[in-house]
Amino acid sequence: MTISFAGQVAIVTGAGNGLGRSHALELARRGAKVVVNDLGGARDGSGASSAASQEVVRLIEEMGGEAISHGANVANFDEVQDMVTQTMSKWGRVDILINNAGILRDKSFTKMSLEDFKLVMDVHVMGTVNCTKAVWDIMREQNYGRIVMTTSSSGMYGNFGQSNYGAAKMAVLGLMNTLVLEGAKNNIHVNALAPTAGTRMTEDLMPEEIVKAFAPEAVTAGMLTLCDEKAPNRFILCAGAGGYSSASIFETQGCFIPQASQNPETVREHWDELIAQDKQASLASGAKQGEKFVMKAMAFMKSQQH
Ligand SMILES: NC(=O)c1ccc[n+]([C@@H]2O[C@H](COP(=O)([O-])OP(=O)(O)OC[C@H]3O[C@@H](n4cnc5c(N)ncnc54)[C@H](O)[C@@H]3O)[C@@H](O)[C@H]2O)c1
Repeated sequence: MTISFAGQVAIVTGAGNGLGRSHALELARRGAKVVVNDLGGARDGSGASSAASQEVVRLIEEMGGEAISHGANVANFDEVQDMVTQTMSKWGRVDILINNAGILRDKSFTKMSLEDFKLVMDVHVMGTVNCTKAVWDIMREQNYGRIVMTTSSSGMYGNFGQSNYGAAKMAVLGLMNTLVLEGAKNNIHVNALAPTAGTRMTEDLMPEEIVKAFAPEAVTAGMLTLCDEKAPNRFILCAGAGGYSSASIFETQGCFIPQASQNPETVREHWDELIAQDKQASLASGAKQGEKFVMKAMAFMKSQQH
């Protein structure tokens, strides 16, 4: 069935270039009214300009859609609040938030200044927090909301020179995990996208033909399945060059060691059992881990009574 966003309002951060631009154009093509947010700075976050976001608005209007641009720096809550206030006064609701804005300040950890670490955390983590916070109560009141976090393979698996970026990209998954629990009763779904695309963020890392294969549109096709009415919840979708997959954190069933022998040597002796993947599972909340361990301890206590 065709995925449509007719009548819905979407905010896409960092939508002046790259992936955000592609997301905004396709949401609009499928009927959404779009807030094209972009600070318009350079890849490292310096500078600002409204040219790119205004051009995206122009393209949307040209295809008969509705859009407004807003230059909020996502790391600044007051500016984000102003964007959401303007959206509400124009269109009266916010159905979709795509947290996409991002910058890079790559260096090995040895050479990285704390300033570069903090700036990247600020844009990716607090940027996502600020935008989500500003729409959260609106979505709760509407009893409808779809939020997409933009994570990265760098966060999930690591990437040389990206300790700041990787930490930030993993943090947004932590935010997602709890918001999924808190938003469930109000039909707010929160998912994450782990993209690979040829954009200015990656252009110097990939040869030209590869950049073409990794078109942002291929990622957007996957992203749209995370923000419509039928969207999953707490799903991490990886997408690039026409490849699509999902990522999850699994935990092994593990072992149990009675109190009298709880020492590092015994833990090491149980290593094979501790890491055995046959009964591994993805846990629905942090509390499930505690439950698992209590069950193991209780089973042991029961076995001692007989
Ligand atoms: N391109 C990839 O392969 C790749 C891989 C993994 C994750 N990502 C993530 O995807 C997202 C989009 O990346 P892209 O490749 O399209 O990069 P891009 O540089 O082409 O676009 C990012 C946009 O975000 C905007 N932006 C930056 N800081 C901002 C701020 N503080 N407030 C508002 N807007 C701001 C920039 O002006 C730019 O237009 C980012 O979150 C990035 O980390 C990209």
